[in-house]
Amino acid sequence: MTTTRGLRDREEPITILTAYDAPTAAIVDEAGIDAVLVGDSMGNAALGYDSTLPVTFDEVASRTAAVARATEDALVVADMPFLSFGVDEAESVRNAGRLLKEANADAVKIESGPHTVDMTRHMTDVGIPVMAHLGLTPQHVNRLGGYTRQGTEREAAEEIIDLAGAHAEAGAFALVLEHVPANLAGAVTEALAIPTIGIGAGPDCDGQVLVINDAVGLGEWAPPFSRQFGDVRGEMLDAVEAYRDAVRSGEFPADEHSHVEEDLDELY
Ligand code: KIV
Repeated sequence: MTTTRGLRDREEPITILTAYDAPTAAIVDEAGIDAVLVGDSMGNAALGYDSTLPVTFDEVASRTAAVARATEDALVVADMPFLSFGVDEAESVRNAGRLLKEANADAVKIESGPHTVDMTRHMTDVGIPVMAHLGLTPQHVNRLGGYTRQGTEREAAEEIIDLAGAHAEAGAFALVLEHVPANLAGAVTEALAIPTIGIGAGPDCDGQVLVINDAVGLGEWAPPFSRQFGDVRGEMLDAVEAYRDAVRSGEFPADEHSHVEEDLDELY
């Protein structure tokens, strides 16, 4: 059973993948991945939205509960969706708590900024483990003007280093660094006692996270910093076409897929 403390001081890099449903979570867990992130990337990856902004608290809660039911060993981290935190601190803490209490998450992830330092401390104090997230934070796409690499200028890089330290000091158990220069991620990793988890942040983080659709080749598009380790879309398309052809040709269902009840013969 992976715990938030168990992610610290690992000899091998930490592995994290997203999952949004029970069968996928079961595969990720069986493969020995350390943590399953029920990311708000479900907006694009599973729910057909074109960003993460429309994802609701109930959608994350329902999917987190499904993932938690199918996961035995991996840590289950639920992502807090846009506006489920950050407007009112008490409501933010209550929402995070519900993801543990009602959906069985082990921890929450929060797209972080200056406004989430005190909130991280508050959540940690009441017993909610927080994974912070800096660099490209997709919930801020409208403010950032796109999904571009962050921390490329010295001032922006220093702000990320300062915020990383502030969240670690506030009690975050890990920090996701998304789409930042590898040398910045390396510097943050060096400076922090908590593990850093990179996505598009180079090899010097303590671990890596990818969106499952990108990793297994399920989506039609993947970011350039990702790698496709399989062709699930191709496999599914082949299987669906084979089913279609077998039904149309009468080859399926065959005798072994059907049951004839002899007592019913006289009905005909
Ligand atoms: O929502 C998500 O899947 C994420 C990861 C990309 C880190 O935030």
